[in-house]
Amino acid sequence: MTETNPAAAAAEHPDAQDSAAPGREIPGAPSSVPPPVAEPVEPGAPVPPKPDQRGPQTYSPTGQKTGIAQKEVAQGGDRLTTAQGTRLYDTDHSLKAGPRGPSLLQDHHLREKITHFDHERIPERAVHARGAAAHGVFQGYGTARGICKAAFLGEGVRTPVFVRFSTVLGSRGSADTVRDTRGFATKFYTDQGVFDLVGNNIPVFFIQDAVKFPDIVHAAKPHPDREIPQAQSAHDTFWDFVSLHTEATHHTLWNMSDRGIPRSFRMMEGFGIHTFRLVNAEGASTLVKFHWKPRLGVHSQVWEEAQLTAGMDPDFHRRDLADAIEAGALPQWELGVQTFPDTEDQTFAGIDLLDPTKIVPEELAPVKPIGLMTLDKNPSNYFAETEQVAFHPGNLVPGIDVTNDPLLQGRLFSYLDTQISRLGGPNFPQLPINRTHTPVNDMLRDGMHQTAVHRGVAPYRPNSLDGGCPFTAGADAGAYIEFPEPLAATAKVRDAAATFDDHFSQARLFWLSMTPTEREHIIAAYTFELAKCREPAIRERVVGTLANIDGELCGQVAAGLGLPAARPAAALDDPDPSPALSQLGRRWPVDGRTIGIVIAEGQDLSGVRTVRQAILEAGMVPLVIAARAGTRDADGDPVAVQRTFATARSIEFDAILVAGAPAPASDAYGARDAKADDELARAGVDSRVLLLLTEAYRHGKALGAWADGADALEAVGIATDSPGVVAGDQAAPVLERVKELLGGHRVWDRFTPSV
Ligand code: HEM
Repeated sequence: MTETNPAAAAAEHPDAQDSAAPGREIPGAPSSVPPPVAEPVEPGAPVPPKPDQRGPQTYSPTGQKTGIAQKEVAQGGDRLTTAQGTRLYDTDHSLKAGPRGPSLLQDHHLREKITHFDHERIPERAVHARGAAAHGVFQGYGTARGICKAAFLGEGVRTPVFVRFSTVLGSRGSADTVRDTRGFATKFYTDQGVFDLVGNNIPVFFIQDAVKFPDIVHAAKPHPDREIPQAQSAHDTFWDFVSLHTEATHHTLWNMSDRGIPRSFRMMEGFGIHTFRLVNAEGASTLVKFHWKPRLGVHSQVWEEAQLTAGMDPDFHRRDLADAIEAGALPQWELGVQTFPDTEDQTFAGIDLLDPTKIVPEELAPVKPIGLMTLDKNPSNYFAETEQVAFHPGNLVPGIDVTNDPLLQGRLFSYLDTQISRLGGPNFPQLPINRTHTPVNDMLRDGMHQTAVHRGVAPYRPNSLDGGCPFTAGADAGAYIEFPEPLAATAKVRDAAATFDDHFSQARLFWLSMTPTEREHIIAAYTFELAKCREPAIRERVVGTLANIDGELCGQVAAGLGLPAARPAAALDDPDPSPALSQLGRRWPVDGRTIGIVIAEGQDLSGVRTVRQAILEAGMVPLVIAARAGTRDADGDPVAVQRTFATARSIEFDAILVAGAPAPASDAYGARDAKADDELARAGVDSRVLLLLTEAYRHGKALGAWADGADALEAVGIATDSPGVVAGDQAAPVLERVKELLGGHRVWDRFTPSV
């Protein structure tokens, strides 16, 4: 894919003048304008937004530019007022009948403040409630010009975007690293109106028709009686549904693969899933599937790591996205399309393009790049932007049209409908994050939370009182005109095409395309989830389904559950594998990766300083781990400690460097810190460090050691010649080798697969 310098892309952004591009910093560093320790007694300037933050564009509800810099929109005045702008002299005491008397109904400020607080929460999304988002820019390559007239895909055209990633099942406060599909929704603020690409990180869906959406969601959400388990599919109702409704088999297999537990939002592919239609300037139609390809590759956690992370840092993905942007490791994806002729039967290579449970292997239809997206700013206010953003697959611009995929057809109704309820009325397109950057001349009026002050007297057509305005436009004036797709003479039915009956062949294609390591992970995931189900009949039924994917998968899962293996309903085909479906075996950039550096008290820190600098220069994040917080002097150049043995846990680091073998610290006893295993402490090294190393080792992470660091590895039985373990005399060469290992994400050859 095309390489672009992220920092340069950020600097060229239309809003770059509003704030400096983020530099190479360790995320979470204090603000560059530190607040005073004592409470201020005189008004001063508010703390400015951080360089990595940008609010939504400042357009009026009717799409006019306000001319206000984005950084100015925050509430930054120096005097506290009521919502009506009246200055307040006290906000700490309610108005009372005397210092010990009852509060008075007359206290408008009290009632305004508490009433507003009472209504601060809005309903969370019915699905995809947990999410994180960022601003960015999309730059078209111009390569789609022959098939699509959308202006934002033109060569060099830069379009602001807002992207929200999400889990599907959990509620808004749930953990990030659960096993689930991830949403990948992009709002393009194009010059022709808003285009939303509302996709997932998995290219197929559980159901083929939107009418089944409430069924799959009710089955996958927590059980209705006790509302457990939260944010996961490891329970009876989910497996009950997917084993009975076998069109879910393909998507379920993807969820049980490493795709269900991403390492980072930055390391996920995105898919439009449905087949869409692109239309060119001549009116010709091409069918396409959209793909987002991450510059950093597709990478995952291991299951134990994901579970630990859910407890240790439930905000892991949210933090990772914000930290990477703050540190200048700007996430990038290339947008690409697979293209198919718009034939009468709308199939390609025998694959029904209207069936959202099917992919078209990239080996049959390569993904052609059409533009590059760079996320370069964090939101300034989670609620105003990430929570209130409203995506809708029906938000389309000229040149992009839908197909008759029955799942997509239902979505075209659902999003607008749900958002009226979630965002409290029909005027949510006027919220700053949802506003188009084009003039709005609709005839929609009034309603809850109307913020536009419309002029004119004739919000109807035809009229003469407003001079007939606004007039409709033709295609030549940029109107959105639906593609006149011919429809066959047919009858009204509740039915689907016969091709929709094939529920297993592509699940088998996916399984056969996995490496042995990936297959091990899939077997483990099914066995884990089904062992969590209580009903033996459900386990047995799923084992029966697995037999229709692959004998070995079925046999291994059945063995893990203490069940006999099942036989397939029909002989299994052996399709050609699609290597593009595997995540492993390539090398990828390491931007934004986190490297922990363990130091011992009183050791020579020159090597630590060298690697810390080299890690920053490589666009990664060094985090120094020591017995206690503060700084350590290294020849007058202090080294700051970011994590202590008590606060560090392996899940935070992609690789660990051990610069010394720290003796047990003063808090390393089990009564104070349960991680401080007294048994391990006998090795003479702080047992929290040993836990850090053993966990990182079994999660396949690269480990490096110099000076006394190798002693710490040996103390816990990790041989310095094991795969993915680097030991040497000098810090710099050790880091170089660890960096190479990180390019492959994890050291899988440390473990021998059984399949
Ligand atoms: C290919 C299949 C689907 C994909 C890729 C998909 C993707 C998404 C994504 C990414 C979001 C979160 C958007 C955000 O970040 O705000 C979302 C929300 C939602 N989806 Fe879907 N979805 C699919 C199918 C469906 C279907 C079939 C329905 C209903 C018939 C549906 C109803 C909803 C609803 C109600 C929300 C919440 C929207 C809101 O409150 O703003 N989805 N979906």
